[in-house]
Amino acid sequence: MSYSATQLLDKVNAYLSTMPYVREPKGLYAPIEYVLSLGGKRIRPVLMLLSYNLYKENVDSILSQAAGIETYHNYTLLHDDLMDRADMRRNKPTVHKVWDENTAILSGDAMLVLAYQLIADCPEGYLKKVMDVYSRTALEICEGQQWDMEFETRNDVTVSEYIEMIRLKTSVLLSAALKIGAIMGDASEEDAQKLYDFGIRMGLAFQLQDDFLDVYGDPKVFGKNIGGDILCNKKTFMLINALNLADDSQKKELDKWIASTEYCADEKIKAVTGLYNQIGIGRICEDKINEYYAEGLALLDSVSLPAEKKEELKSFVCHLMNRQV
Ligand code: IPE
Ligand code: IPE
Ligand code: MG
Ligand code: MG
Ligand code: MG
Repeated sequence: MSYSATQLLDKVNAYLSTMPYVREPKGLYAPIEYVLSLGGKRIRPVLMLLSYNLYKENVDSILSQAAGIETYHNYTLLHDDLMDRADMRRNKPTVHKVWDENTAILSGDAMLVLAYQLIADCPEGYLKKVMDVYSRTALEICEGQQWDMEFETRNDVTVSEYIEMIRLKTSVLLSAALKIGAIMGDASEEDAQKLYDFGIRMGLAFQLQDDFLDVYGDPKVFGKNIGGDILCNKKTFMLINALNLADDSQKKELDKWIASTEYCADEKIKAVTGLYNQIGIGRICEDKINEYYAEGLALLDSVSLPAEKKEELKSFVCHLMNRQV
């Protein structure tokens, strides 16, 4: 049978809630339970199951890999929130705020190991292929995160450098989820690669949207503090384009805010957002998001299966396109 994304989400949540964190020390495991119990959209495990379900029906047999990819994602969030100095996630204080920085580092490390265990718990015949995709992806995400950090102190980052950075930090994990689902579903190499490429486009749109919502989102819905990227001087698609399109006086003001070290956070967020509005950055960003989603959907169309088989995956993507969270 073909499952709906909602049914698959329920399966993922049920599986995650049965994972035992009864081991000692509590100080290591309580933060893991905390972050995983806060939900989140669970996009990556659902994508893995949707992809698998294109080819096979017994989705329960890959729940360990699905839980593994979500555990891995949540590990990246613990470290990312430390690196980005972010205090809120999923409408709750981040792990380094509830506990401390060392806890976020070490519980994160433990989650990375748990993720490996969960993903590697797969039939011998798939093990090498699955682990190759996963390990390569995990390393690429480190590369993307490092570029992201280095770009904070550079003012000459180009749009193509930004796109490569978000491909690495965000897209490859969506792609890996889809590809692992395809591999375990015995898809052809060609289909698995097309699903991977579809994930790349979708991931680019997804991260552009995340950056957009970091400026224009509703904090109560988005669950994160608005303006975090502006405060960190993140070289987002919006800031890069603003720097490129600003007139002389707008450019001067942007440069001033980027260079200032002593400022009131709200004032900086308000001023930079005001400049984005003047320059019309929101619209440029939304156009780019739609472009990547359209490219992604075209790649999905090219996967050699009847259109109705791919309907659920397609509607899942359309749902993501309109997300506010
Ligand atoms: C947040 O990912 C990190 C990014 C890649 C933007 P999600 O937006 O999928 O976060 P959750 O898991 O739903 O909270
Ligand atoms: C997230 O990028 C990428 C990874 C976690 C690998 P962001 O830093 O934009 O994600 P959020 O906004 O904190 O969720
Ligand atoms: Mg962040
Ligand atoms: Mg980050
Ligand atoms: Mg973000």
